[in-house]
Amino acid sequence: MHRRQYRRAITLRDLREAARRRLPRMVFDFVDGGAEDEFTVGENRRAFSDITFRPRVLVDVGSRPQAVTVLGRRLETPVILGPTGLARMVGRAGEVAAAVAAERSGTVSVVSSGSSVSFEDVARSVTSPQWFQLYPWGDRGTIQALISRARDCGFGAMVVTVDVPVVGAREKDLRNGLTVPPQVNPRTGWDVLSHPRWLAELLTGPKVTFANFTGLMPEQRSTSGLAAATAGLLNPGHTWADLEWMIAAWGGPVLLKGVMTGEDARRAVEVGCQGVAVSNHGGRQADSLPAALDVLPEIVAEVGDEVDVVLDGGVRRGGDVVKALALGARACLVGRPWLYGLAAGGQAGVGRVLEILREEIDRTLALIGQPGVAGLDESAIRVRPGHGRAHPPAD
Ligand SMILES: Cc1cc2nc3c(=O)[nH]c(=O)nc-3n(C[C@H](O)[C@H](O)[C@H](O)COP(=O)(O)O)c2cc1C
Repeated sequence: MHRRQYRRAITLRDLREAARRRLPRMVFDFVDGGAEDEFTVGENRRAFSDITFRPRVLVDVGSRPQAVTVLGRRLETPVILGPTGLARMVGRAGEVAAAVAAERSGTVSVVSSGSSVSFEDVARSVTSPQWFQLYPWGDRGTIQALISRARDCGFGAMVVTVDVPVVGAREKDLRNGLTVPPQVNPRTGWDVLSHPRWLAELLTGPKVTFANFTGLMPEQRSTSGLAAATAGLLNPGHTWADLEWMIAAWGGPVLLKGVMTGEDARRAVEVGCQGVAVSNHGGRQADSLPAALDVLPEIVAEVGDEVDVVLDGGVRRGGDVVKALALGARACLVGRPWLYGLAAGGQAGVGRVLEILREEIDRTLALIGQPGVAGLDESAIRVRPGHGRAHPPAD
């Protein structure tokens, strides 16, 4: 498949198909897959289809601004490129592609602490401050070191992800024999060799590794080794007290990612977070979680007047973003979609993801009689009976 095919992509689904063709199956599954039975992956999509619009007519929709402010930062479009580790496995530019594409679209990317390009190299590739993501890694020394580096890089906000006390069971990765870096062996040979363009890029590019942990993490040779080492680095004993320490150590705006209940959102506000990301990690961690969209109203009702609530999980259309905003989110993060774009067309492919979403948001707003995202509320949508919302619509 030729890289320029991304230009013909009309939807994110087209980019997903292009990624499927371009990537070895083990890499595509790593990106696309979820935990255990992938129930939650399905729920994230189902929830959007349970919401339809209540279109208003004869409204002047000649201008449809979609800029929002999240954590004090103006974003020209309410879409943030979420943190995803090891992006170089998908395309050589890795996390740099997200930062540059986000900057060009007037928005921001969140650089994973498990990124394959170091914080420093990502920061050098752009002029606007990106945000960084932190897992509660094992000891405070490691966390402090990452936070100090992030500060030196000029990152504008810290996103602390708290839904990975241990690594979720992505069983496809185990079945496919995924290793980091990917290896050619009798198990993976045909899968890898039948994708020569991807392989050439991998072999001629920088080694795919956890760039922020060089020297800290022993080199990994197998998926089980990777899971074991990551589990060794993660610390399932972390509590709210540790989060408070992280917030103080950072001293800037903090978004807590992985919040799925009103109680935890309240606690996040109490300890000093400026935002929460309603997220089930795209269904990659615990399975049998509800859709993030289904619990969004509960969290907006609890803290929406005090802090910024954002959402991720299953956003594949601009209309999905409009639905989340109508339910009180400030913006949405996308994870897999930007990796599909990266696979299909490198940095330009990631740019195409943002362009498609911006155009779809714009067209949706016009077609449902909404002159911009600022006025969106529950009167713009209709929720199918039986939808798992915690609060009835206020009409
Ligand atoms: C390949 C991959 C790697 C990810 N790595 C991280 C990570 O390092 N940190 C994190 O907070 N979330 C990570 N996520 C989760 C995303 O940030 C996001 O919550 C999720 O992908 C949203 O769902 P979506 O993919 O349906 O948009 C990852 C997701 C994917 C697909």
